[in-house]
Amino acid sequence: MRRERDVRAGREAREPPAPGRPDPIHIRVVDLYKSYDGNQVLRGVNLELERGRINIVIGGSGAGKTVLLRQLIGLEKPDSGHVLIDGVDIVPMNDVELNQVRRKFGMVFQGSALFDSMSVYDNVAFPLREHTRLSEREIRQRVLERLEDLNLKGAEDKMPGELSGGMRKRVGVARALMLEPQILIYDEPTTGLDPVLARSVDDLIVEMRERFGVTSVVISHDMATVFRVGHRISMLYKGVIVASGTPQELSASDDEVVVKFLRSSGVHPSAL
Ligand SMILES: Nc1ncnc2c1ncn2[C@@H]1O[C@H](COP(=O)(O)OP(=O)(O)OP(=O)(O)O)[C@@H](O)[C@H]1O
Ligand SMILES: [Mg+2]
Repeated sequence: MRRERDVRAGREAREPPAPGRPDPIHIRVVDLYKSYDGNQVLRGVNLELERGRINIVIGGSGAGKTVLLRQLIGLEKPDSGHVLIDGVDIVPMNDVELNQVRRKFGMVFQGSALFDSMSVYDNVAFPLREHTRLSEREIRQRVLERLEDLNLKGAEDKMPGELSGGMRKRVGVARALMLEPQILIYDEPTTGLDPVLARSVDDLIVEMRERFGVTSVVISHDMATVFRVGHRISMLYKGVIVASGTPQELSASDDEVVVKFLRSSGVHPSAL
């Protein structure tokens, strides 16, 4: 069996957090297993996601990245294991408790998951209308501001079906940011975007983190994103995390799976 391997040389044991200080590990995944009809997708995932940092999970198509995300935000129950958010295990929680926890998260779903019958404006306004008591005037101001941030000015009256894939993605990002969550999760935010748009989404991930101090979790197989914005990268392979470290540490890794993945991506960190 492949053991999880930390590619950071000489990694020191972590001190427990000082009293009154939040744990630098915002989300801790411990020995997580998940299977569907005998198909074991997660086989003992151990993962630490750092508070206020940009954490990236990489892995090939079908590796289980989206399945892992669904366990992180409590959308599904794992077969066994723990997901500790701010030190509290969400696995045994009931729906009412999980709903509270989910408010900590903003999600940018793979494929955007917009409401097709609502305009761009209404999609982005939706979280504010559902979860705040802001007036329509305040909502309008925030929505238009965010649309402008994301180069979507003038698109507010369009329906999702009229948008390009790149625009849909940006509307999804805008919507996830509206409630200023503590943790922002992006499932393959740049897939399908041209390099210029991909870079603007990367910049946005960085900006949101800088502006709000959010913990960011980015699922990606876009190596340009990984090296441009990632603080800590973890690689999921065959249901376990096989390596984790900074982008530099990962690119210096001699783990054959990591080397193969980076090589096949065709991106070298020095080119960015
Ligand atoms: N609800 C489900 N029921 C049954 N099998 C599932 C379900 N969700 C995911 N799987 C299976 O789990 C495996 C991992 O899927 P997942 O969507 O997590 O991959 P991924 O790493 O996100 O891939 P991609 O990069 O293509 O999005 C696949 O074999 C998939 O068929
Ligand atoms: Mg996926």
